[in-house]
Amino acid sequence: MAEKIVPHELNTDPDRLLFAYWVPNVSGGLVISKIPQRTNWDLASNIRYALAAEQAGFEYALTQIRFMASYGASHQHESVSFSQAILSGTSKLKLIAALLPGLWSPTVAAKQIASIDHYSNGRIAVNVVSGWFKGEFTAVGEWWLEHGERYRRSNEFIRCLRGIWTADEETGFTFSGDFYRFRDYRLSPKPVQTPHPEIFQGGNSEDARNNGAEVSDWYFMNGNDLDGFRDQIADVKARAAKVGREKDVKFAVNGFFIVRETEEEAWSVLHAIQKGADEEAVNAFRDAVQQAGASTSNKTGMWANSKFEDLVQYNDGFKTKLIGTKEQVAERIVLLKSLGINLVLTAFLNYDEEIEQFGKTVLPLVRDLEKQGRGKDAAYEIEQTGDVYKKREA
Ligand SMILES: Cc1cc2nc3c(=O)[nH]c(=O)nc-3n(C[C@H](O)[C@H](O)[C@H](O)COP(=O)(O)O)c2cc1C
Repeated sequence: MAEKIVPHELNTDPDRLLFAYWVPNVSGGLVISKIPQRTNWDLASNIRYALAAEQAGFEYALTQIRFMASYGASHQHESVSFSQAILSGTSKLKLIAALLPGLWSPTVAAKQIASIDHYSNGRIAVNVVSGWFKGEFTAVGEWWLEHGERYRRSNEFIRCLRGIWTADEETGFTFSGDFYRFRDYRLSPKPVQTPHPEIFQGGNSEDARNNGAEVSDWYFMNGNDLDGFRDQIADVKARAAKVGREKDVKFAVNGFFIVRETEEEAWSVLHAIQKGADEEAVNAFRDAVQQAGASTSNKTGMWANSKFEDLVQYNDGFKTKLIGTKEQVAERIVLLKSLGINLVLTAFLNYDEEIEQFGKTVLPLVRDLEKQGRGKDAAYEIEQTGDVYKKREA
């Protein structure tokens, strides 16, 4: 029987850094590698992971949406129903369900999520994704829009979700856009959460940054280096300021965790993952996103700057360099907080053990550092641990 984890007392501090993990609701684990992974995609395993996570002090879990095999995931459970299934087996964790505009309409999404908000007592959120896989759309007879248009649709989609959820009871929601139209639409019941379930959205491109700034509650960043994070946060904040939303957007970052007894051991796990890469799947993904990325306005999105080794993990998680001993990783997490990051999205090689280990080892250290006042002064934190972002190639 696993030892009970007692969530650290500082988990109630409103200024604490929040933690989420990627839900393995698709097969193959969270790295595209043939290395053995003790990570399962079935519901029973995922309920176990979720219970371990909420005990460990994680606040959120993020599901993925994939309608067909790609990037190694030959089997995929649907994101909203899977989120609901996890919610029904847990009591504290918030689930962030992926929604893909084009395949979801805002009408169905707003209704589904409002209902789930009731069943779960206010524990659902959404991640509005804009898609990268043309084959997935054409296989099911959906138009594949070019990059800017997909994000313009997502922007309207988010405005419709928010509008439907918060519309005046008397007048309802009316909207006339290029993609969606509503007239006096009244949703009932409204969501439990006020003003509405949180809306996440991410990507690296200018289009994703604009949507982050203009309409999202949370902007999700892919893994990156120090300068990359600082530039992106400053850029999205500047875009948000232009529309009076500089205080409304929070920042979340993706980072793959490899925490071992020694630094060398942790890095050797990374190298084994990369060495075992499923070349065919990673290359197919690279081809798909580069084809899709050719249409981004400034060529910064769609993993334009990612090397083969980076792509072995979804959304460039190795680049964040949360790799090392528990002390090193806790210090780097605190550095991320000092840059203005509010939430760290994690993934692990072996979910069977590592969520629990993370809760017992790294998380209490982070909470202790926060208690000491760390994570507030970026210059100080960079002086302490910033070097790893320059010296060591992930
Ligand atoms: C944290 C995160 C989760 C994502 N989850 C999904 C997903 O489940 N399904 C999907 O098709 N795309 C997903 N995406 C992809 C994005 O919608 C987007 O297509 C991708 O990040 C490329 O964006 P860019 O061109 O702006 O860099 C996710 C992106 C991020 C950052």
